[in-house]
Amino acid sequence: MTSNLAVHAEGLVKVFGDNRAVDGVDLRVAAGTVYGVLGPNGAGKTTTIRMLATLLRPDGGRAEIFGHDVEREAQIVRQLVGVTGQYASVDETLSATENLVLFGRLLGLSRPEARKKAVDLLEEFGLTDAAKRPLKNFSGGMRRRLDLAASLIARPPLIFLDEPTTGLDPRTRAQMWDTIRTLVAGGSTVLLTTQYLDEADQLADRIAVIDTGKVVAEGTSDELKSSVGTSSLQLRPADAADLDDVRIAVERVLGVPATVSPEATRLTAPMQNPDLVTDLLVVLRESDIRLAELSVQKPTLDEVFLTLTGHGVSTADTREERELEGSPA
Ligand SMILES: Nc1ncnc2c1ncn2[C@@H]1O[C@H](COP(=O)(O)OP(=O)(O)OP(=O)(O)O)[C@@H](O)[C@H]1O
Ligand SMILES: [Mg+2]
Repeated sequence: MTSNLAVHAEGLVKVFGDNRAVDGVDLRVAAGTVYGVLGPNGAGKTTTIRMLATLLRPDGGRAEIFGHDVEREAQIVRQLVGVTGQYASVDETLSATENLVLFGRLLGLSRPEARKKAVDLLEEFGLTDAAKRPLKNFSGGMRRRLDLAASLIARPPLIFLDEPTTGLDPRTRAQMWDTIRTLVAGGSTVLLTTQYLDEADQLADRIAVIDTGKVVAEGTSDELKSSVGTSSLQLRPADAADLDDVRIAVERVLGVPATVSPEATRLTAPMQNPDLVTDLLVVLRESDIRLAELSVQKPTLDEVFLTLTGHGVSTADTREERELEGSPA
């Protein structure tokens, strides 16, 4: 399977009792990119990461990190990856600095090296002011940042971030995004899990959507958006009285039903063939109908996510339906 991908997984499986938590996951993550794994609660995101990070043994399939097998070469793999969440049980009575120094020492740094690393990382993560405070006084956002800082002491080339921004306020989330971008600009590869669609949209070069242990879609966020239904055309006539004429023209030229907005000022129609829009515009001009607005809207990643995974908790029945919906049209 040897490849120069940061992550190359094929058919990964993890079974807990009779629950196939991860059920044949394939992943290919190019080095130097951000890869998003998107899925609802219980989809198998954390379990997948734990297998890739050698914290959990796969029950089937295999995975390589920079060409090293996670089972046969676990020692090497461990030197190549950093995982956040791993250090969740830090010492609450120690300060942020002391915690980081401790991790540095555990990784084999000398005391002065560990101290310097701690100071640099706290600076980088905007925690300098809080550095001396015991951890028990840290807010959730500060903890999350300290957690990420701890996983970066060794500067691993591949960083797993398991829901790095869950529960953070918008400003702290944005800071975290900046930190992640900085890491990647510095050559790191990041695999992050998230339930936030905008996060995957903002950060990830490619995204895998997983649900009930399976990858139901994979691609760039644009590809995922266009895999779900078509774009829609929105039109607003300058004179609302023309709305009905616009609707008739749209239905005749584009051959699709048009929906009038609740406030009866604009109109939306699925756009299967962008070429026909030119014809439509010509018809409108010839009918002396002026437009105040014309836009083309791709489905949001939210719509993609809902279409691919459905809502909330799954039953065997809905799961089967979803898999049908999720398969490429
Ligand atoms: N150690 C374990 N023992 C038994 N079942 C487990 C264990 N870890 C996870 N599971 C189950 O495996 C499934 C996948 O869990 P996982 O934590 O990977 O989901 P997730 O996608 O990370 O969800 P979340 O968004 O809630 O973090 C769930 O049904 C969960 O209950
Ligand atoms: Mg999880």
